Amino acid sequence: MSTLLGLYYWKQHKHRSLLPDGPPGWPVFGNALDIDTTQPHSSLMEWSRQYGDVYTINLMGQYVVVLSSAEAIHECFVTKSNEFAGRPQTFRYHYFLHHQPDVVLSNPDEQWYTAKKAMMQGLKMYGDGLQVLEDLTHDILKDFIFAIEDKKGVAFDILEDLHDAVTSIIATLIYGKQLSNDELRQLVTTDYQVSKVFASNGPGYELDMFPWLRFVSRKNFEDFKNATLAADKWFNGRVESHKEKYEESRMNGVLDYLIKVQKNAKHEGKADISDMSLENYTKNLLFAGMSTTSRALCALLLVWLNQPDVLEKVQTEIDNVIGQRLPRLSDRLSCPFTESMILELLRYISHAPLAIPHETTKDTEVQGYFIPKGTQIFPNLWTLHHSERYWKNPWQFIPERFLDKTGQLFPADHPLRKKLLPFGAGRRVCPGEALAKNRLFLFVACLAQKFNFLPEDESNIPTADPRSYSIGLPLCPARFKIRVLPRIE
Ligand code: HEM
Repeated sequence: MSTLLGLYYWKQHKHRSLLPDGPPGWPVFGNALDIDTTQPHSSLMEWSRQYGDVYTINLMGQYVVVLSSAEAIHECFVTKSNEFAGRPQTFRYHYFLHHQPDVVLSNPDEQWYTAKKAMMQGLKMYGDGLQVLEDLTHDILKDFIFAIEDKKGVAFDILEDLHDAVTSIIATLIYGKQLSNDELRQLVTTDYQVSKVFASNGPGYELDMFPWLRFVSRKNFEDFKNATLAADKWFNGRVESHKEKYEESRMNGVLDYLIKVQKNAKHEGKADISDMSLENYTKNLLFAGMSTTSRALCALLLVWLNQPDVLEKVQTEIDNVIGQRLPRLSDRLSCPFTESMILELLRYISHAPLAIPHETTKDTEVQGYFIPKGTQIFPNLWTLHHSERYWKNPWQFIPERFLDKTGQLFPADHPLRKKLLPFGAGRRVCPGEALAKNRLFLFVACLAQKFNFLPEDESNIPTADPRSYSIGLPLCPARFKIRVLPRIE
């Protein structure tokens, strides 16, 4: 036993001595006790001031290299995309995904690659796929508008309506048909439950470090197990019943594209893709595609409450370019202020503050530092997006920062836009980026076109500052009530 322990500590020490410097830690816990568990990304930002753009922390024996500069993050995401494309394998995710591959957390291999490609093909954010998204969003927006008009200007918590509408869109894109109201309610409830247990500081975080603690600390494990059971209850059987209706000549929804990948693998004699993996892919898309957009929209409403001039500018643009008809995706090109406001929103809130942890797949280097294979990497997007080095007044919401002197949006290859990476980049880039941006545009344009927004209490406007958000999947502004008034009676 003592030889084994000695070997373990020797290996740990050797691994640490190879890595960049970082804050000194405590025995056993390392730096875990020094991190603000309500704002871990802010603690990491603080340390970057002292230890630089590339430093190492120790989370209960697990070494993590934190990257904070645009150059270091670009090197990891883009230049050395393959070498940084691994994911740390954690107890909780394996348990939640029933030890079967998925896209979000699996290491890149052939199955991962074909599944991610099929997801992107199935989401079809090009050609007639855009028309499908536009028509579907219009249908859902009509019900959404009706529901909020019905509140008749009385203050209410808008998150639920937004969350339902956004969820309905992604679920329809996956399954090729709209969910019933009951299915939708259960899915949204499950999402809240899952988001809570997977927050980076959520109950059960310690289980990733020491899985055996589930036999000792039952409460956290029970909460986590219940969220897994709730997800299973919702997802189990859906893939099987979808497969019964599958017709290769009539691809209807992302799941059909994933089923095709499964059939092709079988046909070509490749490793089997299990039905559980197909289920995991749909979990990936739903859990990643619901809260990210609904929370971003809530964050924007908070900005509008605090900076009504921003709303007025969007309304002027929408009135001039779109008028009274429903906004279309083709309007994006003619609405530079709205587009730039959405980019500023994604920068300001950075609600996936540390992206999803990466892991090195081989010995490599970043900014001249040697990083051994199997090292966890946190790309700190929070610091990247709030660093005074790149952004003037980073804690202020300034949509104009992405516009040139004539009011046109900077092109995607403009140096400032290249420092904005809310969806990551390279091999692990978010496959929902185009969908998220398109859906945000349609919602934002429609909200600004139809409504004015007032706080519940003029003397106590809820803050829009993202430093107040609580940790979850993704960062969440506190729940708030808002009065929504039609612009035209
Ligand atoms: C505002 C909305 C969204 C933001 C800010 C966002 C952000 C991100 C980020 C930062 C990552 C991690 C990238 C990395 O590890 O380097 C990611 C991964 C991912 N996102 Fe999104 N996302 C959004 C919406 C969506 C939507 C709508 C979907 C689904 C349709 C989606 C599906 C995924 C998936 C499947 C991955 C894992 C990709 C991989 O591991 O290779 N996301 N997203």
